[in-house]
Amino acid sequence: MPQPVNTPTGTLGSTEVHSTGLSETFIAETADVADPHLVGPGTRVWHLAQLREGAVLGSECIVGRSAYIGPGVRVGTRCKIQNHALVYEPAELGDGVFIGPAAVLSNDTYPRATTIDGRLKTAADWTAVGVQVADGASIGARAVCVAPVRIGRWACVGAGAVVVRDVPDYALVAGVPARQIGWVGEAGHRLVPDGDGWRCPVTGSAYAEEDGVLRRAEQ
Ligand SMILES: CC(C)(COP(=O)(O)OP(=O)(O)OC[C@H]1O[C@@H](n2cnc3c(N)ncnc32)[C@H](O)[C@@H]1OP(=O)(O)O)[C@@H](O)C(=O)NCCC(=O)NCCS
Repeated sequence: MPQPVNTPTGTLGSTEVHSTGLSETFIAETADVADPHLVGPGTRVWHLAQLREGAVLGSECIVGRSAYIGPGVRVGTRCKIQNHALVYEPAELGDGVFIGPAAVLSNDTYPRATTIDGRLKTAADWTAVGVQVADGASIGARAVCVAPVRIGRWACVGAGAVVVRDVPDYALVAGVPARQIGWVGEAGHRLVPDGDGWRCPVTGSAYAEEDGVLRRAEQ
């Protein structure tokens, strides 16, 4: 049965959600969650994770040990934020997003601890910029997404990559700086050429590419 879920990510969160029967929210005793009422049903927040004030998580997410989610960050439904990942505000994660272990979503392009007159910088002294991760996208272990940057729907960022430019939907990027090395399908596997288009070797799903834009082919 489809379950109506109040997706907190606005236009980023568009995926229909089906209940898996998980409804209890679990927050480990050692986790530090500023606003537990903003954590969706079925979401599990593990030991030593920190969710800052105003951080909104949709239903059925997992936040791993020692992960950090900044103030006001918006996370969709069924996201996995792995151990030690650092998601700085004003990041926005769509539905079904995977953030690998120790990945970093930055928020300050030109960081400095102090102002030019030597004062410790406060929030008023700099403008935070965010990373947007669209529905279904995955960020590999220890990758860094340097804000402002958008990771497209179902895109995949390889382990250890440093992303400094927007990543198209379904693109597979890797390296420092990250460059596109292929396409991935919705099952996460690298697509193989198939006639004029592309195909997932695991599911058989077909994809069409036009002018550098990939989309699921009509079945
Ligand atoms: C990027 C990735 C998806 C590519 O997987 P793949 O399609 O099986 O790629 P291959 O292993 O065949 O490698 C293809 C090429 O990309 C390179 N490559 C693979 N992963 C890379 C990475 N993370 N960074 C840089 N280059 C990478 C390989 O060296 C190879 O280069 P070559 O053609 O010059 O020899 C995978 O390596 C990866 O990083 N996955 C993310 C894993 C992760 O972080 N999981 C998180 C949960 S623990």
